[in-house]
Amino acid sequence: MVLKTSVVVNYLLIVFLSSVLGAKDLPKYFPRCRRSDPKINDCLLKATDQVRPYLIKGVPELNVPPIEPFIIPEVTLEQGSNILNFKAKLNDIVVRGLSKYKFSQFDFDVPKLHFHCKAAIDELKLEGKYEVKGALLGAPIHGKGIFRAEIGNSNITVFQAIRIIKKRGIDFTQVIFTNSTIDVGKPKAQLDGLFDNNEALTKATNAVIKDNVERLFEDLKPVIEKVINSMIEDLLFKLLTENVPYDKLYPK
Ligand SMILES: *[C@@H]1O[C@H](CO)[C@@H](O)[C@H](O)[C@H]1NC(C)=O
Ligand SMILES: *[C@@H]1O[C@H](CO)[C@@H](O)[C@H](O)[C@H]1NC(C)=O
Repeated sequence: MVLKTSVVVNYLLIVFLSSVLGAKDLPKYFPRCRRSDPKINDCLLKATDQVRPYLIKGVPELNVPPIEPFIIPEVTLEQGSNILNFKAKLNDIVVRGLSKYKFSQFDFDVPKLHFHCKAAIDELKLEGKYEVKGALLGAPIHGKGIFRAEIGNSNITVFQAIRIIKKRGIDFTQVIFTNSTIDVGKPKAQLDGLFDNNEALTKATNAVIKDNVERLFEDLKPVIEKVINSMIEDLLFKLLTENVPYDKLYPK
């Protein structure tokens, strides 16, 4: 199987980052975990629950957007394999269910500056605009409209490496590498408006998607993983870690 994946994720990062200048502190109501605490991992795991209500609404002080729903302005996907060969652009994606995350592990290896996290999400619903051109199981597919997708019970494992950098004499953390693996259960996907709104062809294509949804998602897995990596790296961690000094994020 030839697998070529390239993902460009554009999260209006420039807009976010250019509006964030200077060193910030975590909001008063945020939990803090000391890096000298031998039980820092327990503290961080508990913190993932404590910050949930704030993440749901977003943390404007840190320019962290609301996660319920979570809006992804644009994702472009390109995939070449036996069963899927396409270019797609997704816009204004509304993701629901992210706030029901449940971490079972949030380990920070302080000397190595490595994070190892495991989380489960019961159900995610995605809706947005799409434009697609390519082939699905050998049959051409093209069109644009609204897509809906659902994934049930996903397990996500994330590894992240950071480094300490000095900015104006202050230590900040910087993400150098993120990778994630994801197992998704019971996926469903539906596209409308295919083939210039040809109803019969749209129906036939959706039937093919339905019958092969597990295979398609298996094939799309590297793409989904890359999108999740970028989401975690660019949006959630980068904004936080690059704007709050290390000593304020994880005090000595
Ligand atoms: C991330 O990549 C490293 C190195 O390739 C690997 O050891 C680790 O298992 C990966 N972790 C995840 C969660 O994918
Ligand atoms: C996620 O993990 C749970 C608990 O280990 C397991 O029961 C479930 O089958 C996993 N789901 C997927 C999609 O792998």
